[in-house]
Amino acid sequence: MGWPICGQSLAFLKPHSSNSMGTFLQKQCSKYGRIFKSHLFGSPAIVSCDQELNMFVLQNEEKLFLASYPKPMHGILGKYSLLIVSGELHKKLRNVAVSFIGSSKSTPAFLRFVEKLALSMMESWKQHKRDCEEIRKARARLSSTVRDIIKQRKTEKPGLREEDFLDVILSKQSLRDAETVSIVLDILLGGYETTTTLIPLIVYFLAHSPNVYQRLKVISESMRCGNVVKFVHREAIRDVKFKDYVIPSGWKVLPVLAGVHFDPSLHENPSEFNPRRWSNNDKATMSKTVMPFWGRTATLPRRRTC
Ligand code: HEM
Repeated sequence: MGWPICGQSLAFLKPHSSNSMGTFLQKQCSKYGRIFKSHLFGSPAIVSCDQELNMFVLQNEEKLFLASYPKPMHGILGKYSLLIVSGELHKKLRNVAVSFIGSSKSTPAFLRFVEKLALSMMESWKQHKRDCEEIRKARARLSSTVRDIIKQRKTEKPGLREEDFLDVILSKQSLRDAETVSIVLDILLGGYETTTTLIPLIVYFLAHSPNVYQRLKVISESMRCGNVVKFVHREAIRDVKFKDYVIPSGWKVLPVLAGVHFDPSLHENPSEFNPRRWSNNDKATMSKTVMPFWGRTATLPRRRTC
């Protein structure tokens, strides 16, 4: 299963055009089927491009599977990141993030902010990619800046300036400073990388479909074809039986969201950018087979934040 230690990680992560699964997944799926064994990110792993297994993992969050991002990412995300923590702490931090995102979405200032952000994101396309170490250092700098601002806010008299997003989070008295910093960074990092990827994709797909005017369908189809988040990291916390498969405890499970988005048995001619498929198929089917945010149900333990 590939090279010592890194296994098949390099082939798995090899860049490819966003409206495909990439050659590695295509080859493995045609050889072994949509669920196959591999060795990725230092662990034995089950890779799933199968809609039913992905759904099963999603529905058993924290019961059978836990989020399990590779160690080097912990330095970037921070130990209190929503993608790292689980259980009660995850619930507590996520409630703060969800209530902030929910309340800010309804303010008129939010749309102005999104527009400004979108314009500055487009400007940033010119910038180069950064490596992991650089990102870790940038996170440490951001983290200490946010800490300084928190200190300053605690000494400020209330009502002297307009309330911003840090004020909303600080008003949740139950959080420690490290947890507040982590939520701020989760929202900044989670919101930045994803939107900067999605906006150019929408522009790209629109440019290739000049006759498409139904913008909402264009956005949904861009999410399906663009695969801003290609896969998520999970780990089985006990032996799990799924159909004829047994996933041993401790193994990584990588639900590949793109694998389902490009499954020809679910989407006709899947690599074609075709917003009309959103009117041709019923909504319930589409929402099960296109899950760019990894699950939407509010009742799930790890429900959607974005
Ligand atoms: C195109 C846009 C976006 C896509 C495709 C996307 C996708 C995802 C996915 C797949 C996850 C689940 C990761 C996992 O559980 O392992 C996630 C989690 C998260 N996202 Fe996004 N995201 C987007 C935009 C945003 C934005 C704009 C924000 C912030 C304003 C955000 C903040 C977060 C946070 C905080 C989490 C962790 C949630 C939790 O564990 O409960 N995302 N996102």
